[in-house]
Amino acid sequence: MAEKLITCVVNNSVKQGSKFWGEHGLSFRIKMGDTCMLFDTGQSETVLLHNYGLLGACPRSLAALVLSHAHYDHTGGLQSVLTQKPDVPLFAHPDIFRPRFSLRDGEYRSIGMALSQNDVSRLANLHLSAEPMEVLPGIWTTGEISVRNEKEGRSKHHFIAVDNGWQADPYRDDMSLVVEDSAGITVICGCCHAGLLNTLAHAARHFKKPIIRILGGTHLLNATPDELQHIIAVLRDEYGSPELYLNHCTGDAAFVALSNAFGEKVHTFPAGASLLIE
Ligand SMILES: [Fe+2]
Ligand SMILES: [Fe+2]
Repeated sequence: MAEKLITCVVNNSVKQGSKFWGEHGLSFRIKMGDTCMLFDTGQSETVLLHNYGLLGACPRSLAALVLSHAHYDHTGGLQSVLTQKPDVPLFAHPDIFRPRFSLRDGEYRSIGMALSQNDVSRLANLHLSAEPMEVLPGIWTTGEISVRNEKEGRSKHHFIAVDNGWQADPYRDDMSLVVEDSAGITVICGCCHAGLLNTLAHAARHFKKPIIRILGGTHLLNATPDELQHIIAVLRDEYGSPELYLNHCTGDAAFVALSNAFGEKVHTFPAGASLLIE
């Protein structure tokens, strides 16, 4: 299988001493030879294009784009990518265009996609499916995480509008990315609202290969100490303690708990950091 270089383009924190800019958001680039793709687009065009430029690349060279879910901190740079790379194949869940809201101080504020489905359909080659889709050779969306026996990565502030009012966001659109190599699979999470353990169980069931690495935002910000200990036990007993490259919405307490449990297998993954998968 071809070598794949995974680089964090946008994240809340940046590699020390680098010229990368940080913001609350997430974007990864995966490069395979001369081909590259993006997973999420950060929160803003400004940060995405600045950081992407530091990699010596521009969106015109993109072969594909995947969106993990609708939230603004993952889709905010979308317009700039689609303007520079019209007709790029764009992969996402069919529910991604549903408006999303955050309830703060009694006010529902929009936190979903800035572009409508019609806008995106005009600009991109749109592939919407709740099933896993192969984006590039050996790189797949997970598809919808439909079985959720474990805790989800929820925020009590997140809502969708329904006929008779408001409903907690079911996060049906939340998907992760799976990168295959000869030893197993790497799961790259956006915000992991479907829940880290639910996402891993889905990936293990569908791809039938060992999960050897987990990257990205794991949404453990609000996890209690007991919940973190449960996650640690499952990672150790079910998945053989995969390498963890954590960022975005993982949370400091979760990072410390996982580091205490797994030592050198736990890494931060700020903007500017890269990982080569052979
Ligand atoms: Fe999110
Ligand atoms: Fe996020």
